[in-house]
Amino acid sequence: MQIEQPFELVLFGGLGDLALRKLFPALYLLELDKRLPFGCIYAVGRRGYKSEEVKEKVKQAVFEQISPEYQDDDCWAVFAQRLKYIRIDVQDPKAFNVLSRELDEDCPNRLFYLATASFLYADITINLDSNQLISPASKIVLEKPIGHDLASAKAINKTVAEYFDESQIYRIDHYLGKETVQNLMVLRFANSIFESQWNQHYIDHIQISISESLGVEQRAGFYDQVGAFRDMMQNHLLQLLCIVAMEPPSKMEPDAVRDEKVKVIKALRPIEGKDIHDKVIRGQYGQGVSEGIPVPRYRDEAGVDDQSQTETFVAMKVEIENWRWAGVPFYLRTGKRLAERECEIVVQFKEIPHSIFSMQHKEAMANKLIFRLQPDEGIRLQLCEKKLGSGMNVRPMTLSLNPDNPSQDYMRSQSSGREPDTNRVRVPEAYERLLFDALAGNPTLFLRDDELMEAWHWVDPILAAWQDSDSTPEPYTAGTWGPAASTLLLAKDGRLWNENN
Ligand code: BG6
Repeated sequence: MQIEQPFELVLFGGLGDLALRKLFPALYLLELDKRLPFGCIYAVGRRGYKSEEVKEKVKQAVFEQISPEYQDDDCWAVFAQRLKYIRIDVQDPKAFNVLSRELDEDCPNRLFYLATASFLYADITINLDSNQLISPASKIVLEKPIGHDLASAKAINKTVAEYFDESQIYRIDHYLGKETVQNLMVLRFANSIFESQWNQHYIDHIQISISESLGVEQRAGFYDQVGAFRDMMQNHLLQLLCIVAMEPPSKMEPDAVRDEKVKVIKALRPIEGKDIHDKVIRGQYGQGVSEGIPVPRYRDEAGVDDQSQTETFVAMKVEIENWRWAGVPFYLRTGKRLAERECEIVVQFKEIPHSIFSMQHKEAMANKLIFRLQPDEGIRLQLCEKKLGSGMNVRPMTLSLNPDNPSQDYMRSQSSGREPDTNRVRVPEAYERLLFDALAGNPTLFLRDDELMEAWHWVDPILAAWQDSDSTPEPYTAGTWGPAASTLLLAKDGRLWNENN
């Protein structure tokens, strides 16, 4: 698929945290790979900056995010020519005149990217329409979280749907753009050996964990209103769960894939009443040491309410009510200021029924398939092999697939401390892939309206119960793996989180 030219990308929230940390670096990398055809990028912001100032600011942000080998001044010069800054108060319809004057009314490929708080999505859409900026060929990207509950998400959807057809709406979840997530689909659906094992007969449980070592950084204003559940669980973790658990789609086509994901969300066992207390743990970080540096408690972070009850950690036990997954728990966990930055999906297979090898615990021999999304990407299958030498001693071994560096065994290169292979293939950033797909008109990795609504429908009772209850998030020390209750959640089932691998 190609991006039709000329294109116009209008980025609302154009100098916000997301734009500077993720979107511009991704766009620059597309430029570097010569994947952007002729077109313009308009960064829309509230403040009065000169375009030259903005270009400098964006360059600095982009070069801070990408490794030195990709910092190319010639490429930047080409990229900077596309970039224009436009000052608009998005709640003022008249302010959109400036945009009308800039945009080419005949542009065949116009993409509006809304990287602002979602309560502005309706205003932006209405103002685009009243300035005749939307055509049947326009597309709109909506960042997550869309709304703060089912009712607000429905309201936003309804307004946006008055001006854009569903086929023009791209609801983004950047975790779906990560290479290993796509590799997970290929591994599942392009290899016959896994399908026969991918069910309750062979899988004991699945863990999906996204841990971050960072705190709220400069995003306290946003985060304190949102919390870990809406920021990560309702979207990124649920989406990963869908990809792991869905039935094979009949085709690699947008609706075929999305139909299967919706079925998973609809099959999630509701968590309501007492189950909320038993199956969902929320925490908030206290002071501690993160990556060797003392850090303050969440409530002392700049911009956070000192009485805040916002959760910075969530762990939960989720069940899927269908034939494939009956009785297989999915343990999901995410949090800020945890021991490490890591994202893994761990498929834990059942123990062998009987061991013929003495001195071996059956549980130590159970196979694991680990999809690692962060900080490095790769897939590892843990198996058992015979120890070299006399006797029949068994030891664990790992088969690895590392997309970043296919020529090397991931585990061994880690432990030997060998230098990375300089000829390695660059793994595209998630936003790079998704921005390209949105500009090229491929919605496969974006959420459909029913998927989003089903996700809110499932999480709403949990959020409402927290809102109405006197209970508060459990404190945990920054730099650890979260509150003790999260360990207990698995311990009650005789299991452990997969840590320190
Ligand atoms: C974003 C969340 O969607 O994902 C952030 O809003 C979080 O709070 C980020 O830090 C994590 O993304 P990644 O790709 O760095 O794991």
